[in-house]
Amino acid sequence: MGVTLTRVNSMDLQGRSFFVTGANSGIGRALVEALAARGGRVVLATRSEERTRPVLSAIQSRYPAARAQWVSLDVSDLGSVRRAAQAFLASGQPIDVLVNNAGIAGTRALSKDGFDLTYATNHIGPFLLTTLLLPRVREAPQGRVVNVASGAHMMVKRIDWSVLERRLTPQRSGLTDYAVTKLMNVLHAKELARRLTGTRVTTYALHPGAVASNIWRSLPRPLQWFGKLFMLSNEQGAESPLYCATAPELAATTGRYYDRTREARPSPLAEDAALAEELWTRTEAAATGN
Ligand SMILES: NC(=O)c1ccc[n+]([C@@H]2O[C@H](COP(=O)([O-])OP(=O)(O)OC[C@H]3O[C@@H](n4cnc5c(N)ncnc54)[C@H](OP(=O)(O)O)[C@@H]3O)[C@@H](O)[C@H]2O)c1
Repeated sequence: MGVTLTRVNSMDLQGRSFFVTGANSGIGRALVEALAARGGRVVLATRSEERTRPVLSAIQSRYPAARAQWVSLDVSDLGSVRRAAQAFLASGQPIDVLVNNAGIAGTRALSKDGFDLTYATNHIGPFLLTTLLLPRVREAPQGRVVNVASGAHMMVKRIDWSVLERRLTPQRSGLTDYAVTKLMNVLHAKELARRLTGTRVTTYALHPGAVASNIWRSLPRPLQWFGKLFMLSNEQGAESPLYCATAPELAATTGRYYDRTREARPSPLAEDAALAEELWTRTEAAATGN
Protein backbone atom coordinates (compact mmCIF):
# COMPACT_ATOMS: atom_id res chain seq x y z
CA MET A 1 0.00 0.00 0.00
CA GLY A 2 2.87 2.38 0.88
CA VAL A 3 4.39 2.30 -2.60
CA THR A 4 1.03 2.75 -4.34
CA LEU A 5 -0.01 5.66 -2.16
CA THR A 6 3.33 7.36 -2.64
CA ARG A 7 2.71 7.23 -6.38
CA VAL A 8 -0.83 8.54 -6.03
CA ASN A 9 0.31 11.26 -3.63
CA SER A 10 2.89 12.64 -6.01
CA MET A 11 0.62 12.39 -9.04
CA ASP A 12 -0.01 15.33 -11.33
CA LEU A 13 -3.71 15.49 -12.25
CA GLN A 14 -3.44 18.63 -14.41
CA GLY A 15 -6.01 18.57 -17.18
CA ARG A 16 -8.22 15.92 -15.57
CA SER A 17 -11.76 16.58 -14.31
CA PHE A 18 -13.45 14.86 -11.38
CA PHE A 19 -17.20 15.05 -10.73
CA VAL A 20 -17.74 14.12 -7.05
CA THR A 21 -21.14 13.85 -5.35
CA GLY A 22 -21.50 14.64 -1.64
CA ALA A 23 -18.29 16.68 -1.70
CA ASN A 24 -19.22 19.11 1.08
CA SER A 25 -18.38 16.82 3.98
CA GLY A 26 -16.56 13.70 5.15
CA ILE A 27 -14.81 11.49 2.61
CA GLY A 28 -16.10 13.50 -0.38
CA ARG A 29 -14.68 16.76 0.96
CA ALA A 30 -11.30 15.18 1.74
CA LEU A 31 -11.31 13.62 -1.74
CA VAL A 32 -11.90 16.86 -3.68
CA GLU A 33 -9.26 18.60 -1.57
CA ALA A 34 -6.76 15.83 -2.36
CA LEU A 35 -7.63 15.95 -6.07
CA ALA A 36 -7.34 19.76 -6.20
CA ALA A 37 -4.00 19.60 -4.35
CA ARG A 38 -2.69 17.43 -7.22
CA GLY A 39 -3.91 19.86 -9.90
CA GLY A 40 -7.19 18.11 -10.75
CA ARG A 41 -10.22 20.13 -11.72
CA VAL A 42 -13.08 19.32 -9.32
CA VAL A 43 -16.84 19.58 -9.58
CA LEU A 44 -18.55 19.48 -6.18
CA ALA A 45 -22.06 18.13 -6.78
CA THR A 46 -23.99 18.77 -3.56
CA ARG A 47 -27.46 19.75 -2.40
CA SER A 48 -26.43 22.83 -0.42
CA GLU A 49 -24.44 25.76 -1.81
CA GLU A 50 -24.16 27.15 1.71
CA ARG A 51 -22.53 23.98 3.04
CA THR A 52 -20.27 23.76 -0.02
CA ARG A 53 -18.97 27.36 -0.02
CA PRO A 54 -16.46 26.76 2.83
CA VAL A 55 -15.01 23.81 0.90
CA LEU A 56 -14.64 25.86 -2.29
CA SER A 57 -13.04 28.71 -0.30
CA ALA A 58 -10.61 26.34 1.43
CA ILE A 59 -9.58 24.85 -1.93
CA GLN A 60 -9.19 28.26 -3.54
CA SER A 61 -7.11 29.69 -0.69
CA ARG A 62 -4.83 26.66 -0.35
CA TYR A 63 -4.43 26.00 -4.07
CA PRO A 64 -4.97 29.32 -5.88
CA ALA A 65 -4.48 27.73 -9.31
CA ALA A 66 -7.14 25.05 -8.61
CA ARG A 67 -10.32 24.93 -10.66
CA ALA A 68 -13.27 24.04 -8.46
CA GLN A 69 -16.97 24.61 -9.02
CA TRP A 70 -20.31 23.81 -7.44
CA VAL A 71 -23.14 21.93 -9.15
CA SER A 72 -26.55 21.80 -7.47
CA LEU A 73 -27.57 18.18 -7.02
CA ASP A 74 -29.98 16.44 -4.67
CA VAL A 75 -29.10 12.91 -5.71
CA SER A 76 -32.20 11.46 -4.02
CA ASP A 77 -34.46 13.52 -6.33
CA LEU A 78 -34.60 12.16 -9.89
CA GLY A 79 -35.72 15.56 -11.24
CA SER A 80 -32.69 17.20 -9.65
CA VAL A 81 -30.43 14.48 -11.07
CA ARG A 82 -31.82 15.10 -14.56
CA ARG A 83 -31.46 18.89 -14.25
CA ALA A 84 -27.91 18.67 -12.90
CA ALA A 85 -26.81 16.24 -15.63
CA GLN A 86 -28.52 18.23 -18.39
CA ALA A 87 -26.96 21.54 -17.27
CA PHE A 88 -23.53 19.98 -16.92
CA LEU A 89 -23.64 18.27 -20.30
CA ALA A 90 -24.85 21.51 -21.90
CA SER A 91 -21.87 23.37 -20.40
CA GLY A 92 -19.62 21.19 -22.57
CA GLN A 93 -17.20 20.53 -19.71
CA PRO A 94 -15.34 17.23 -19.58
CA ILE A 95 -15.58 14.48 -16.96
CA ASP A 96 -12.68 12.08 -16.63
CA VAL A 97 -13.94 10.50 -13.44
CA LEU A 98 -17.38 10.35 -11.84
CA VAL A 99 -17.27 9.51 -8.12
CA ASN A 100 -20.62 8.42 -6.67
CA ASN A 101 -19.83 9.24 -3.06
CA ALA A 102 -22.96 10.86 -1.57
CA GLY A 103 -24.72 8.58 0.87
CA ILE A 104 -26.86 8.38 3.96
CA ALA A 105 -27.81 5.83 6.59
CA GLY A 106 -30.60 5.52 9.11
CA THR A 107 -33.67 7.35 7.78
CA ARG A 108 -37.42 7.14 7.97
CA ALA A 109 -38.45 9.17 4.95
CA LEU A 110 -39.51 9.02 1.35
CA SER A 111 -37.72 10.74 -1.51
CA LYS A 112 -39.55 13.29 -3.69
CA ASP A 113 -40.31 10.49 -6.12
CA GLY A 114 -41.75 8.24 -3.39
CA PHE A 115 -38.83 5.84 -2.89
CA ASP A 116 -37.33 5.00 0.47
CA LEU A 117 -34.84 7.85 1.00
CA THR A 118 -31.84 5.60 1.70
CA TYR A 119 -32.36 3.64 -1.54
CA ALA A 120 -33.07 6.82 -3.52
CA THR A 121 -29.90 8.55 -2.24
CA ASN A 122 -27.48 5.64 -2.21
CA HIS A 123 -28.50 3.74 -5.32
CA ILE A 124 -31.39 4.90 -7.55
CA GLY A 125 -30.19 8.52 -7.93
CA PRO A 126 -26.51 7.58 -8.48
CA PHE A 127 -27.60 4.96 -11.04
CA LEU A 128 -29.51 7.59 -13.06
CA LEU A 129 -26.73 10.17 -12.66
CA THR A 130 -24.18 7.68 -13.97
CA THR A 131 -26.37 6.77 -16.93
CA LEU A 132 -26.89 10.42 -17.86
CA LEU A 133 -23.25 11.51 -17.45
CA LEU A 134 -21.76 8.41 -19.05
CA PRO A 135 -21.64 9.82 -22.61
CA ARG A 136 -19.32 12.57 -21.30
CA VAL A 137 -17.18 10.11 -19.31
CA ARG A 138 -16.85 8.01 -22.49
CA GLU A 139 -15.26 10.98 -24.27
CA ALA A 140 -12.36 11.01 -21.78
CA PRO A 141 -9.06 9.37 -22.73
CA GLN A 142 -9.53 6.92 -19.83
CA GLY A 143 -12.85 7.56 -18.11
CA ARG A 144 -13.69 6.03 -14.76
CA VAL A 145 -16.77 5.55 -12.59
CA VAL A 146 -16.04 5.04 -8.90
CA ASN A 147 -18.76 3.90 -6.49
CA VAL A 148 -18.08 4.49 -2.81
CA ALA A 149 -19.72 1.33 -1.45
CA SER A 150 -18.98 -0.30 1.93
CA GLY A 151 -17.81 -3.50 3.53
CA ALA A 152 -21.29 -3.47 5.12
CA HIS A 153 -22.51 -5.04 1.84
CA MET A 154 -21.13 -8.36 3.15
CA MET A 155 -24.00 -8.56 5.68
CA VAL A 156 -26.67 -8.92 3.01
CA LYS A 157 -28.24 -12.34 2.44
CA ARG A 158 -30.79 -11.37 -0.23
CA ILE A 159 -32.38 -8.39 -1.95
CA ASP A 160 -36.10 -7.82 -1.42
CA TRP A 161 -36.96 -6.11 -4.73
CA SER A 162 -39.90 -4.24 -3.22
CA VAL A 163 -37.34 -1.72 -1.91
CA LEU A 164 -37.14 -0.36 -5.45
CA GLU A 165 -40.87 0.33 -5.58
CA ARG A 166 -42.53 3.65 -4.75
CA ARG A 167 -44.27 3.79 -1.37
CA LEU A 168 -47.01 5.79 0.27
CA THR A 169 -45.67 5.79 3.81
CA PRO A 170 -42.06 5.82 5.01
CA GLN A 171 -40.62 2.89 6.94
CA ARG A 172 -37.63 2.81 9.23
CA SER A 173 -34.51 2.10 7.22
CA GLY A 174 -31.55 1.00 9.34
CA LEU A 175 -28.21 -0.72 8.95
CA THR A 176 -29.66 -3.66 7.00
CA ASP A 177 -31.11 -1.39 4.31
CA TYR A 178 -27.92 0.67 4.23
CA ALA A 179 -26.00 -2.58 3.64
CA VAL A 180 -28.34 -3.53 0.77
CA THR A 181 -27.75 -0.15 -0.92
CA LYS A 182 -24.01 -0.69 -0.61
CA LEU A 183 -24.33 -4.16 -2.16
CA MET A 184 -26.22 -2.41 -4.98
CA ASN A 185 -23.24 -0.03 -5.42
CA VAL A 186 -20.90 -3.01 -5.89
CA LEU A 187 -23.29 -4.78 -8.28
CA HIS A 188 -23.84 -1.56 -10.25
CA ALA A 189 -20.09 -1.07 -10.79
CA LYS A 190 -19.76 -4.70 -11.84
CA GLU A 191 -22.63 -4.65 -14.34
CA LEU A 192 -21.55 -1.27 -15.69
CA ALA A 193 -18.08 -2.70 -16.34
CA ARG A 194 -19.65 -5.57 -18.27
CA ARG A 195 -21.76 -3.19 -20.35
CA LEU A 196 -18.71 -1.03 -21.06
CA THR A 197 -16.55 -3.89 -22.34
CA GLY A 198 -14.55 -2.66 -25.32
CA THR A 199 -14.73 1.01 -24.29
CA ARG A 200 -12.08 3.15 -22.54
CA VAL A 201 -14.21 3.48 -19.37
CA THR A 202 -13.40 1.43 -16.27
CA THR A 203 -15.39 1.06 -13.03
CA TYR A 204 -14.56 0.47 -9.38
CA ALA A 205 -16.41 -0.13 -6.11
CA LEU A 206 -14.70 0.32 -2.79
CA HIS A 207 -14.83 0.18 0.98
CA PRO A 208 -13.07 3.27 2.38
CA GLY A 209 -12.63 1.83 5.90
CA ALA A 210 -14.60 2.87 8.99
CA VAL A 211 -14.35 6.65 8.85
CA ALA A 212 -15.23 9.27 11.48
CA SER A 213 -17.54 11.26 9.20
CA ASN A 214 -21.12 12.55 9.54
CA ILE A 215 -22.56 9.28 8.23
CA TRP A 216 -23.04 8.11 11.82
CA ARG A 217 -25.29 11.03 12.76
CA SER A 218 -28.39 8.84 13.28
CA LEU A 219 -26.63 6.96 16.12
CA PRO A 220 -26.89 8.16 19.75
CA ARG A 221 -24.25 10.85 20.43
CA PRO A 222 -22.21 8.93 23.06
CA LEU A 223 -21.99 5.97 20.69
CA GLN A 224 -20.84 8.26 17.85
CA TRP A 225 -18.22 9.85 20.06
CA PHE A 226 -16.89 6.52 21.32
CA GLY A 227 -16.92 4.80 17.92
CA LYS A 228 -15.08 7.66 16.24
CA LEU A 229 -12.13 7.17 18.60
CA PHE A 230 -11.30 4.01 16.67
CA MET A 231 -12.05 5.23 13.17
CA LEU A 232 -10.00 6.61 10.30
CA SER A 233 -9.90 10.33 9.56
CA ASN A 234 -11.79 11.64 6.52
CA GLU A 235 -8.42 12.15 4.79
CA GLN A 236 -7.53 8.50 5.37
CA GLY A 237 -11.00 7.51 4.17
CA ALA A 238 -10.45 9.46 0.95
CA GLU A 239 -7.32 7.43 0.09
CA SER A 240 -9.39 4.61 -1.35
CA PRO A 241 -11.56 6.65 -3.77
CA LEU A 242 -8.46 8.71 -4.66
CA TYR A 243 -6.65 5.50 -5.55
CA CYS A 244 -9.52 4.11 -7.65
CA ALA A 245 -10.05 7.47 -9.36
CA THR A 246 -6.41 8.10 -10.27
CA ALA A 247 -4.02 5.14 -9.96
CA PRO A 248 -2.43 4.52 -13.40
CA GLU A 249 -1.98 0.82 -12.59
CA LEU A 250 -5.78 0.43 -12.42
CA ALA A 251 -6.36 1.78 -15.93
CA ALA A 252 -6.73 -1.72 -17.36
CA THR A 253 -8.81 -3.29 -14.56
CA THR A 254 -12.54 -2.86 -14.29
CA GLY A 255 -15.54 -4.04 -12.28
CA ARG A 256 -13.46 -4.95 -9.24
CA TYR A 257 -13.89 -4.23 -5.53
CA TYR A 258 -11.29 -2.56 -3.31
CA ASP A 259 -10.97 -2.62 0.46
CA ARG A 260 -9.17 0.66 1.04
CA THR A 261 -6.37 0.47 -1.55
CA ARG A 262 -6.20 -3.28 -2.00
CA GLU A 263 -8.28 -5.32 -4.41
CA ALA A 264 -10.50 -7.63 -2.36
CA ARG A 265 -13.21 -10.22 -2.89
CA PRO A 266 -16.66 -8.80 -2.29
CA SER A 267 -19.42 -11.03 -0.93
CA PRO A 268 -20.63 -13.97 -3.08
CA LEU A 269 -23.86 -12.05 -3.78
CA ALA A 270 -21.82 -9.13 -5.10
CA GLU A 271 -20.18 -11.50 -7.59
CA ASP A 272 -23.50 -12.84 -8.89
CA ALA A 273 -23.64 -11.66 -12.51
CA ALA A 274 -27.33 -12.55 -12.91
CA LEU A 275 -28.20 -10.53 -9.79
CA ALA A 276 -26.20 -7.57 -11.13
CA GLU A 277 -28.12 -7.71 -14.40
CA GLU A 278 -31.47 -8.01 -12.65
CA LEU A 279 -30.63 -5.05 -10.41
CA TRP A 280 -29.77 -3.02 -13.50
CA THR A 281 -33.08 -3.80 -15.21
CA ARG A 282 -35.15 -3.14 -12.10
CA THR A 283 -33.33 0.09 -11.22
CA GLU A 284 -33.64 1.37 -14.77
CA ALA A 285 -37.39 0.78 -14.57
CA ALA A 286 -37.59 2.54 -11.18
CA ALA A 287 -35.51 5.52 -12.30
CA THR A 288 -37.30 6.06 -15.57
CA GLY A 289 -40.80 5.12 -14.40
CA ASN A 290 -41.08 2.27 -16.95
N1 LIG B 1 -17.91 6.76 7.11
C1 LIG B 1 -17.73 5.46 6.96
O1 LIG B 1 -17.27 4.75 7.87
C2 LIG B 1 -18.10 4.80 5.66
C3 LIG B 1 -17.85 3.44 5.52
C4 LIG B 1 -18.18 2.83 4.32
C5 LIG B 1 -18.73 3.56 3.30
N2 LIG B 1 -18.98 4.90 3.46
C6 LIG B 1 -19.60 5.64 2.36
O2 LIG B 1 -18.86 6.83 2.12
C7 LIG B 1 -19.69 7.77 1.43
C8 LIG B 1 -19.47 9.15 2.01
O3 LIG B 1 -19.97 9.19 3.33
P1 LIG B 1 -19.21 9.87 4.54
O4 LIG B 1 -18.80 8.79 5.44
O5 LIG B 1 -18.21 10.84 4.06
O6 LIG B 1 -20.45 10.61 5.25
P2 LIG B 1 -20.90 12.13 5.33
O7 LIG B 1 -19.83 12.97 5.96
O8 LIG B 1 -22.23 12.11 5.97
O9 LIG B 1 -20.99 12.56 3.82
C9 LIG B 1 -22.08 12.17 3.01
C10 LIG B 1 -22.23 13.18 1.91
O10 LIG B 1 -23.35 12.79 1.11
C11 LIG B 1 -24.16 13.93 0.93
N3 LIG B 1 -25.56 13.62 0.67
C12 LIG B 1 -26.44 12.95 1.43
N4 LIG B 1 -27.65 12.96 0.86
C13 LIG B 1 -27.52 13.65 -0.30
C14 LIG B 1 -28.43 14.00 -1.32
N5 LIG B 1 -29.72 13.66 -1.28
N6 LIG B 1 -27.96 14.73 -2.37
C15 LIG B 1 -26.65 15.09 -2.43
N7 LIG B 1 -25.76 14.80 -1.47
C16 LIG B 1 -26.19 14.08 -0.43
C17 LIG B 1 -24.03 14.70 2.23
O11 LIG B 1 -24.48 16.03 2.04
P3 LIG B 1 -25.21 16.87 3.22
O12 LIG B 1 -24.12 17.47 4.01
O13 LIG B 1 -26.02 17.83 2.43
O14 LIG B 1 -26.04 15.88 4.00
C18 LIG B 1 -22.53 14.58 2.42
O15 LIG B 1 -21.84 15.52 1.63
C19 LIG B 1 -21.12 7.24 1.57
O16 LIG B 1 -21.53 6.68 0.34
C20 LIG B 1 -21.00 6.15 2.63
O17 LIG B 1 -21.96 5.13 2.45
C21 LIG B 1 -18.68 5.53 4.63
